[in-house]
Amino acid sequence: MKLPDLNEARKRTKKEILIKTSENIIKDNLKKLGKGKKYYVKTYGCQMNVHDSENIKAILEEMSFEETDVFEDADLIILNTCAIRENAHNKVFGFLGRVKHLKETRPHIICGICGCMAQEENVVNEIKTKYKWVDIVFGTHNIDNLPNILATSMERKEQEIEVYSIEGEVIENLPVKRDSKYKAWVNIMFGCDKFCTYCIVPYTRGKQRSRKSKDIMHEVEDLISKGYKEVTLLGQNVNAYGKDFKDAKYTFANLLEDLAKTGIKRIRYTTSHPRDLDKETMDVMAKYKNIMPHLHLPVQSGSNDILKKMNRKYTKEMYLDKINYLKKVIPSISLTTDIIVAFPNESEEDFEETLDLVRKADFEGAYTFIYSKRKGTPAATYDNQIDPVTAKRRLLTLNKLINEGFAKGNKRFEGEILEILVEGYSETKNHLLCGYTGNNKLVNFEGDEELIGKLVKVKITKAYTWHLRGELI
Ligand code: SAH
Ligand code: SF4
Ligand code: F3S
Repeated sequence: MKLPDLNEARKRTKKEILIKTSENIIKDNLKKLGKGKKYYVKTYGCQMNVHDSENIKAILEEMSFEETDVFEDADLIILNTCAIRENAHNKVFGFLGRVKHLKETRPHIICGICGCMAQEENVVNEIKTKYKWVDIVFGTHNIDNLPNILATSMERKEQEIEVYSIEGEVIENLPVKRDSKYKAWVNIMFGCDKFCTYCIVPYTRGKQRSRKSKDIMHEVEDLISKGYKEVTLLGQNVNAYGKDFKDAKYTFANLLEDLAKTGIKRIRYTTSHPRDLDKETMDVMAKYKNIMPHLHLPVQSGSNDILKKMNRKYTKEMYLDKINYLKKVIPSISLTTDIIVAFPNESEEDFEETLDLVRKADFEGAYTFIYSKRKGTPAATYDNQIDPVTAKRRLLTLNKLINEGFAKGNKRFEGEILEILVEGYSETKNHLLCGYTGNNKLVNFEGDEELIGKLVKVKITKAYTWHLRGELI
């Protein structure tokens, strides 16, 4: 048993990052362990987790488990969890209740918890004492050891917990079962060293570790050869890519340019940090048509006081300067953001500053959140936590403004002819196909099934708040 440790997770030393290649992570005697058994993976949280689940699924299939999307039919249930806010926690504990209920009639079911909540000391202690029927817990640094953890738990029939809080390694070559045949997630870095005072991620994902550029290039070239049209580069702070290399001066802008030159049809990346987003990166974005004109650039607040308390290390003015440069070099760009309201001590004036920034930035979308206290982070100890009624009111006011920006951002494309990557049938209007434009706008249109996976041109006939309607041309 190895439990997570918050003090260890906080450590950042100058130790060299170890690149491990995960050849043969599944021993021959475990390759049939899942024969005749079904697995169900439920994923919470960000794209990072979505991609980790693609690795987990591939590992399980190499152990002969078969996927099911009916949770009641599964023999193995894995919850890949998120710890970013209180409600993410609550959802997982809620779902665990359902699993417990299912286990009453099907006691052989194995239940596993992984992801960011598994990296939290208090959560794992709770699971150990109050959720003894959870069979396995493994962390974000332990995915490659899943086959052994699972085998040990099945053999001993007792709870198996293995969560490292190490600064981390980079594990190359994990098997992957991608959800899409046309778009792929590609990790370029892991972890985060920014330590924004509200955020749990630097503790759950560890120290920043960049993948070697040659490994990323190989992955993308391989994806191109398999017919993939779009890659999204992933990391908690992709703009800091390479800053952890000891011996190389190779930046995110260099990587982006090298990837653009591979000729892949579409490149996106997320998430960016305003402090690390540099002019070179914006210039590369402007230079290559296959880097999509959309940037998600979380601002968090428009108040310089609050930004300082959040440890974001930029000001409202610096943020606006950067996006103004970006709009100058890429006039068609769409900007989206993340905003937290009701951070401890946020006054009405601070909140007004955020609204003012939103108006000036012309965001075309945003994820907005009420601040949520995370145990172990500095902000959790700050005085003057904002009352829930005020927080809710601020969120609603902000959302109204954001939604106007969303609608305006869609409206500007009415009448235009745009290229979209067709993803499949629309979830809400099943007879229509859907796909995203370069600016990341959702378009619904009529067309044949055979268009799925292709890049096609559509004329935008009408803009709605949340999507566009188009016609194939
Ligand atoms: N690395 C990215 C995203 C991190 S998590 C970045 O730096 O932007 C995604 C978003 O969740 C953050 O941008 C932030 O807006 C929000 N978030 C993180 N911690 C939070 C907390 N404690 N309470 C509320 N929102 C939070
Ligand atoms: Fe969290 Fe800040 Fe790192 Fe983003 S940059 S993951 S908000 S600590
Ligand atoms: Fe959640 Fe972990 Fe992502 S906390 S947002 S799943 S990095």
